[in-house]
Amino acid sequence: MKVARHLFLVLWSVQIIYAQKTAVPLPYAATKTDTSKLAMVVAPHPLASQVGAKVLRKGGNAVDAAIAVQFAMAVVYPRAGNLGGGGFMVIRMNDGQTNALDYREKAPLAAHRNMYLDSLGNPIPRLSQDGHLAAGVPGTVAGLLEAHRKYGRLPLRHLIDPAIKLAAQGFPISEAEAARLNNTQEAFRKFNTRPSAFLKPQWQAGDLLVQKDLAATLIRIRQKGAAGFYEGKTAQLIVQEMQRGKGIITLEDLKAYRPVWRTPLIGQYKGYRVISMPPSSSGGVALLQMLQMVEPFNLEQYGFHSTKAVHIMAEAERRAYADRAEFLGDTDFYKVPIDSLLNPTYLKRRMADFQPDKASASTSVGAGKFQLSKESFETEHTSIVDVQGNAVSVTTTLNSNYGCKVVVGGAGFLLNNEMDDFSVKPGVPNQFGLVGNEANAIEPGKRMLSSMTPTIVEKDGQLFMVLGAPGGSTIITAVFQVLLNVVEFGLDLDTAVNAGRFHHQWLPDQILIEENALSPEVRKELEAIGHKLQQVRYMAVIKAIQKLPDGSLLGVGDPRNPDDDAEGL
Ligand code: DON
Repeated sequence: MKVARHLFLVLWSVQIIYAQKTAVPLPYAATKTDTSKLAMVVAPHPLASQVGAKVLRKGGNAVDAAIAVQFAMAVVYPRAGNLGGGGFMVIRMNDGQTNALDYREKAPLAAHRNMYLDSLGNPIPRLSQDGHLAAGVPGTVAGLLEAHRKYGRLPLRHLIDPAIKLAAQGFPISEAEAARLNNTQEAFRKFNTRPSAFLKPQWQAGDLLVQKDLAATLIRIRQKGAAGFYEGKTAQLIVQEMQRGKGIITLEDLKAYRPVWRTPLIGQYKGYRVISMPPSSSGGVALLQMLQMVEPFNLEQYGFHSTKAVHIMAEAERRAYADRAEFLGDTDFYKVPIDSLLNPTYLKRRMADFQPDKASASTSVGAGKFQLSKESFETEHTSIVDVQGNAVSVTTTLNSNYGCKVVVGGAGFLLNNEMDDFSVKPGVPNQFGLVGNEANAIEPGKRMLSSMTPTIVEKDGQLFMVLGAPGGSTIITAVFQVLLNVVEFGLDLDTAVNAGRFHHQWLPDQILIEENALSPEVRKELEAIGHKLQQVRYMAVIKAIQKLPDGSLLGVGDPRNPDDDAEGL
């Protein structure tokens, strides 16, 4: 099992990124960093970030731009951009107000705890990852339309039309996309019985990807709003697709789906105010826990990627992920002890057994213990001054590349395989090697636990940074490290993003290390104090914006994704 986990993590980290060179010149190119005095969009594909920038030029606000980018991404970045998935949006408006939208997928009403287990109670390999049964009820369309209802300035059609055009007229795909599509042909054929735009014997860079069915679905959303997806023709097509593939999403599931506004989690780190996503993502809790656990240490003095600093940070990561496995889940179903988990006394105690010269053992760390305090989910601080510009940090996903590989016949979009983010059985790792328990067990209508960590940071009441990433379980540690790289170790944002990263998630008891992270000496020293190291090619892929002291914005995409693009106005 342990070997399988290692193997999975290596394969997964290799498959998430293709750093290949594009042989055919494309009519678009990604810019990794950009600066602007006005506004900035950083997205995983230039065609999507350009759509966002155009919306901003037209007078749309950051939420409008985020919505338009998400719709465009559903077309130009089908591995993850989506209509058939879900996500999280953290918002900080220019009046200082913050908000968080949870549009995570939900377990269908017919889902049950043991649905991925065989008669002996063992997980059936890949059942929660591939095919129709792996899909949760999609949340993206409802989420984007709700964000628009509350914050949108431009009419919805301005935000969807660019995506419709891209889908109907097609766009030339990059070599990375061609390679990904080629690698997925077999799975597409296995899990689909209807024609789809993605099926082709051999894709090449520069080939046009035309998605007529997707364009028609987007037009129905433009005409009817959420009902254009969750009711009527699109809903019927989803249910027909489910029936073809023994899936369980029904018309009732679709009609009942609602996104939820949640109070963002807010914490402090050495004068910075960190605003992040509460459950059903674990991202905000774990990020704030890790920051508080390392705050008493003088990381800056130890130095960037020094053995001491990496050891402290990895031990904080270990403890936060141990808590994640035990306590984190959908707060609508499970009483997550957020206040206790973020209590400063608890977090101090959590690091009490930290040894400067010895790695802890995950078997002895386990989940933390505390007396449950009276829990409150209210916001802690909302007094913010002198803000310039609205900020949105949004992360969305289908989970795996191209989700469960099922394209809804006649509707042209892929469905997620987010059900794998539940704990299908206590202690059994999911595709990211994460384990869980009761808090994240499958229940009808429940949201599966996420690691997505859309985050906004303030300094002195001013917007300071916007960041987030894809990358499964490694998202949280990537956000943690990029933030510390800037605020603690004093790196420029692009150096901070480019720098190699390391990742501990409690189980397996090892530190994953990117190829270019940590010198051979530091690696040796970490091993000498008992850490097990496992090298991987890449992990999470950060997209960040920093407001610089002169008031300008620095946007940084991640070289780990060749298509990451920063687009300043
Ligand atoms: O919600 C989560 O934590 C995962 N479903 C995210 C998946 C992801 O980031 C895939 N990217 N490589």
